[in-house]
Amino acid sequence: MSAGGPSSTGHPSSSPAGARPRGQSVTARMEKGAIRHVVAVGSGKGGVGKSTATSLLAIALRRTGASVGILDADVTGPSVPKLFGLTGPLLDRGEGIEPAKTASGIPVVSSQFLVEDDQTPVIWRGPLVTRMILQFFGGVNWGALDYLLIDMPPGTSDVPLTVFQTIPIDGMVFVLSPQELAALIVRKAMNMARELHVPLLGIVENFAYFECPHCKERTELFGPSGVARVAAEYGVPVLGRFPVDPQLSIRGDAGRLEEYPSDIATAAAKALQDSLATKASQKITMI
Ligand SMILES: Nc1ncnc2c1ncn2[C@@H]1O[C@H](COP(=O)(O)OP(=O)(O)OP(=O)(O)O)[C@@H](O)[C@H]1O
Ligand SMILES: [Mg+2]
Repeated sequence: MSAGGPSSTGHPSSSPAGARPRGQSVTARMEKGAIRHVVAVGSGKGGVGKSTATSLLAIALRRTGASVGILDADVTGPSVPKLFGLTGPLLDRGEGIEPAKTASGIPVVSSQFLVEDDQTPVIWRGPLVTRMILQFFGGVNWGALDYLLIDMPPGTSDVPLTVFQTIPIDGMVFVLSPQELAALIVRKAMNMARELHVPLLGIVENFAYFECPHCKERTELFGPSGVARVAAEYGVPVLGRFPVDPQLSIRGDAGRLEEYPSDIATAAAKALQDSLATKASQKITMI
């Protein structure tokens, strides 16, 4: 079935989201349909491991028996299909788009499935990109999902802004690298989510340290981590700290990320579930 009644056209249920001023409460969102939790995964800048972290979280959630989907909203830099060894095309037999399925049964949609090969660039203007993402949410046969994770485009441009305002996101996870922490770029993206009333669910620090495979000593390659400080400042949990691990990129590059064992991802997925539960109980308390 489709993700939502009126939204099955891929359009928001009322006036265009982009028309609303920043900071205004989100009211014209698409419907969630049979998706229980929609979690956006964002970052302040590109290349911090956002797609990898999104996929690892999805894999770990799936391993708990939950039904999980991934919407690759990084339309101009899609990389989720490669991590799972997926290729297109996406099929629409007139009843909505059928997502591709990973080996462990995670449905995925991505703009990568719409181009001929992974060398072909997606060159589209912002409004078209935004429309595609909305179509990926509302026009796809996601079925009943416990979690839909959205690999967001990085930064604070018009595209993430419209996604925030239009897709019924339950909360946002931020992925950051130690360098990004130092430069505080992530604050802009976190502040944007806050301003748009998107709950912050937690932080994932990637490239956090290197663990010697022999003696297990950990080295923080970029100096002492500032993640705890930023998490405390925003009142959000650190869901996990992923080390630099060549095995991670090797398996991802081979399209076999699902074969990567990760206790850290398992713990991060559990922390994410706890964070979602806490936010839900806070909402009930407010009412
Ligand atoms: N913890 C890690 N250890 C080793 N390699 C990693 C790790 N995390 C990510 N990588 C590698 O770094 C590269 C960038 O990761 P990824 O594509 O997930 O980043 P991104 O933030 O989604 O980038 P983009 O902005 O281009 O979408 C990939 O080749 C990935 O395999
Ligand atoms: Mg990416």
